[in-house]
Amino acid sequence: MSNYHIKHLEEYFQVYNKSVNDPETFWGEIAEENFIWHKKWDRVLSWDFTKPEVKWFEGAKLNITENCLDRHLITRAEKTAILFEPNHPSEKAQHITYRILYEQVCRMANVLKDQGIQKGDRVCIYLPMIPEMVYSVLACARVGAVHSVVFAGFSATALSTRINDCECKMVITSDGSYRGKKTIDLKGIVDEALKDCTCVDSVLVAKRTNTKVNIVDGRDHWLAPLMNNASALHNAEIMDAEDPLFILYTSGSTGSPKGMLHTTAGYMVYSSYTFKNVFNYQENDVYWCTADVGWITGHSYIIYGPLANGATTIVFEGVPSYPDYGRFWEVIEKHKVTQFYTAPTAIRALAKEGSEFPEKYDLSTLKVLGTVGEPINEEAWHWYDDHVGHNNSPIVDTYWQTENGGIIVTPLPYITPTKPTFATLPFIGIQPAIMDANGTELKCNQVNGSLCVKFPWPSIARTIWGNHQRYKDTYFTTFENKYFTGDGALRDESGYYRITGRVDDVIIVSGHNLGTAPIEDAINEHPDVVESAIVGYPHDIKGNALYGYVTLKDSGKLRDEETLRKEINQSITEHIGPIAKLNKIQFSDGLPKTRSGKIMRRILRKIAHKESDNLGDLSTLLNPEVVQSVIDNAF
Ligand code: WT7
Repeated sequence: MSNYHIKHLEEYFQVYNKSVNDPETFWGEIAEENFIWHKKWDRVLSWDFTKPEVKWFEGAKLNITENCLDRHLITRAEKTAILFEPNHPSEKAQHITYRILYEQVCRMANVLKDQGIQKGDRVCIYLPMIPEMVYSVLACARVGAVHSVVFAGFSATALSTRINDCECKMVITSDGSYRGKKTIDLKGIVDEALKDCTCVDSVLVAKRTNTKVNIVDGRDHWLAPLMNNASALHNAEIMDAEDPLFILYTSGSTGSPKGMLHTTAGYMVYSSYTFKNVFNYQENDVYWCTADVGWITGHSYIIYGPLANGATTIVFEGVPSYPDYGRFWEVIEKHKVTQFYTAPTAIRALAKEGSEFPEKYDLSTLKVLGTVGEPINEEAWHWYDDHVGHNNSPIVDTYWQTENGGIIVTPLPYITPTKPTFATLPFIGIQPAIMDANGTELKCNQVNGSLCVKFPWPSIARTIWGNHQRYKDTYFTTFENKYFTGDGALRDESGYYRITGRVDDVIIVSGHNLGTAPIEDAINEHPDVVESAIVGYPHDIKGNALYGYVTLKDSGKLRDEETLRKEINQSITEHIGPIAKLNKIQFSDGLPKTRSGKIMRRILRKIAHKESDNLGDLSTLLNPEVVQSVIDNAF
């Protein structure tokens, strides 16, 4: 019997040991006993981190949507699969049953086929958090198309870059989107993006805001009439275990966004197994993850993981502050939410508004609280525990990355004793290693090093779309024969892991993973800018905020600084999106550089952290004289 649902700590250790000592038997059993397959695998695992190449369940045939939908029709047809909670509380919530979800996905799969979408084609999804988001993702998976969801807060430029990188044939969007008080012209952004894309043949448009949009004849189609005319039955495409399921872009420390490619069977098994255990999901629970499907958290823990388990999963269109800061708590009361999964930045923002908001609502249904996206600070952890969980719901601080496909370090609720700021123990099958700068594994405790994983788990990304070399360079070359996360970590005496933050040039702002290079590129597009450097600095709510050092051309030096700051943030908004705007912009006559001309971000980071009395050795700089003036002008 496989250990699909772990029930106590001793069992966790037993199962963990089994998963490490005999991964193939372990994962083979989990896969065989808990999913439906058209054909079983020939081999559970083959791998080589030097290439790198990882294959799970090779030779198996399946469709992930049959595991998320069809198989539930026997026992859960009338159970709510998707509970849609609209932006405005006066609009009625929608309970979409497994039967209806199945029919909608089938209809949409038929629409995709009619529009010429074939197995392996890429489809870009640029939608708000509405039911069509879920239909689109699953319809792609049903026909074997590779979905690439782009967060609908990204700009037209960011969207076109992502569409072109993986050559999407289709874009699925909506007329507009609601976000709090704002209505956003999504279709307008798509039209703008598509001026730079020749690969897109068709655009499907869902109706949400009823705003007037431009419809390009022959290219654009309203989704609803096509779905109404389509059959509610569809034979799922039979996929190989290692066929691509989706691409999801994530920022790197340098260069363009990386299209992480996830494949079918391993991703399904791991996202589903982690969901069951990390949230201790039980049949009648109502689970809510507040992430957007535009991020990996939404893929694995709003859609695939919950639906594979036959769960009820909330799709929330709104924001935590609208119509007021009580919205999350109001939704929890209204839908009797049992598991609630959000980000530390949201907790800090809500804590700032005071505990009177959560106190107004009945939160007694909650059984498990989760966080993800960045290290959770102790104060936020306690506020969450006291005012949301009433010291009654364990907090699972779940550590993972887009590249991982699922949670890799986490407590199990009611099983693992929690410890604020520690993500605690590796999940089943995960073999972490903390490495020193020389590439030696640190076996001792309490020493910070680079967090790696020594052995593949089923949902590790298989490559970066179109650039396997970059995949290898980014994750598998810093430490020999290991996957490198890019994060620092230490371990305590009980084997608990604490994630100490990025060790590269990725900055986590409000839980969003932002690379410095694309932001600097956007700033440098400004006609008055010579060059720029971005660093993170601590921020009460965002965790980190962005601090930009910018040198100006003579033309810029004559201009008003406030206007320039606005224009620079405007340029960032246009190229990336508002999430990457800078909190502080300091103009400077020069930036500290090495003799080879590389900007010394280490120094700039210290200055932004107000640690300029401890800058270390400056003698190797090309231009040590600029440092003092940068310090003098710092905020
Ligand atoms: C980076 C990955 C995967 C979910 C959303 C973010 C940071 C994520 C934690 C945590 C400390 C965390 C890491 C990681 N991170 N969760 N519980 N504790 N740090 O996905 O955009 O791929 O970002 O988020 O720095 O590398 P992502």
